[in-house]
Amino acid sequence: MASPQARVQATASFPSLSEDPSGAGDRLVFCHFMIGICSNRQGSDEYDGDMQRAKDFGIDAFALNIGTDSYTDTQLGFAYDSAARNDMKIFSLSTLTVKQYASHPAQLLVDGKVFVSSFAGDGIDVEAMTSAAGQDLFFAPNFHPGQGDFSAIQGALNWMAWPSDGNNRAPREGHNITVADGDMAYLKALNGKPYIAPVSAWFSTHFGPEVSYSKNWVFPSDLLWYNRWREILALKPRFVEIITWNDYGESHYIGPLSSPHTDDGSSKWVMDMPHGGWLEMSKPFIAAYKAGTETVLDYIEDEKLVYWYRPTKRSLDCDATDTTMTGSSHHDSGNFFTGRPNGWETMADSVFVTALLKSPATVQVQSGDQAKTFQAPAGISAWTAPMGVGKQQFSVSREAQTVFSGSSLKDIVDFCVCGIYNFNAYVGTLPAPAFIDRLQPAGMALLGQGLKVECPMNTLGAP
Ligand SMILES: *[C@@H]1O[C@H](CO)[C@@H](O)[C@H](O)[C@H]1NC(C)=O
Repeated sequence: MASPQARVQATASFPSLSEDPSGAGDRLVFCHFMIGICSNRQGSDEYDGDMQRAKDFGIDAFALNIGTDSYTDTQLGFAYDSAARNDMKIFSLSTLTVKQYASHPAQLLVDGKVFVSSFAGDGIDVEAMTSAAGQDLFFAPNFHPGQGDFSAIQGALNWMAWPSDGNNRAPREGHNITVADGDMAYLKALNGKPYIAPVSAWFSTHFGPEVSYSKNWVFPSDLLWYNRWREILALKPRFVEIITWNDYGESHYIGPLSSPHTDDGSSKWVMDMPHGGWLEMSKPFIAAYKAGTETVLDYIEDEKLVYWYRPTKRSLDCDATDTTMTGSSHHDSGNFFTGRPNGWETMADSVFVTALLKSPATVQVQSGDQAKTFQAPAGISAWTAPMGVGKQQFSVSREAQTVFSGSSLKDIVDFCVCGIYNFNAYVGTLPAPAFIDRLQPAGMALLGQGLKVECPMNTLGAP
């Protein structure tokens, strides 16, 4: 059952371009948080779980993505109050809220200035914005190299946390931009000013014509979460932004499914797909990043495996029952494709496994009828095993003694779950968490919308 080692190479050749070599202690980790799906929260206490959990893992501040909806003000107030109570920090992606929250105890200050980021266009008049805010700002927007005026800002956020074709789609032959390429472009444009480097685990979205914001594509994700953290440790940027805490629609959430939220129509690919293992995996990486070291071993508290995989092989044909097969009028948006999400060929039919170990061990993966064995070193290592339909079983052993072993709560299957193409990932850990993370009723209120087949709710751990 043993097969050759397939250790994933860390990106050891990645150049270190630290703009702040002495900056340990100044480094901060942000996590992008969508207020737009939290309209159902009734009080600031409903933010406490998110604040406490993020803080426990070393996240310093939530970057609040807010719109101009009727509930925005109320939810922003709840979030700030909860953050203050839980010793977390917040900044907003809107310059409009600066005045209101500048002196709030939860407002993130950097170098003594109110920190604000933005998705505002590269053409924004920074001077006018700053004078309207009436504050000395640390303004770090999502400007783009070659477009925005980098001389007018204090730092910048790069949003492109996924390899792409340079035009918001998966890479293709001859058009293949890595996340590290983006780092280089930003560091050059920033010319020594602080950089907010993006890190994300996944990207898959599959909104059909049942909603007005139809979009259907993936970015290659596979071992991105592991590889990108390795790059971050080498790069040592002043700031890191995890994308995201709770954007379920694009499948890059690392926060709980149970975190209170409404359903934007994404529950059909989010239900039964917890991502908490990714947050657990980030903890030693975050600690190492803040310490300015590339050695994560010292920061591993508990040995574990974190593994993930899509629920089906990519060639499975769901055309007869998928939600995106009609609605060609939605093609106008440029984001909508029928059938398998655009870019699906860039995702591998593999089970991805990371081992967080204090000393070397043997890791065995049994994916359906496919078996693979790895000799994992101390520290964090990443592996790929071939995907097999059926049960997913894992074990860690040393000198013929089992350290821990167990089965995933989710099988890989050869039918279309809920009838759709689901390119989201199921993330599990071993030892398994004490409770099963599940969507709450409001988070799956639109589960049936557009579906062509029955879709049983919350099946993980069900008899
Ligand atoms: C893009 O480049 C990466 C490595 O740099 C490679 O693994 C991948 O296969 C390329 N993708 C395409 C579609 O060419």
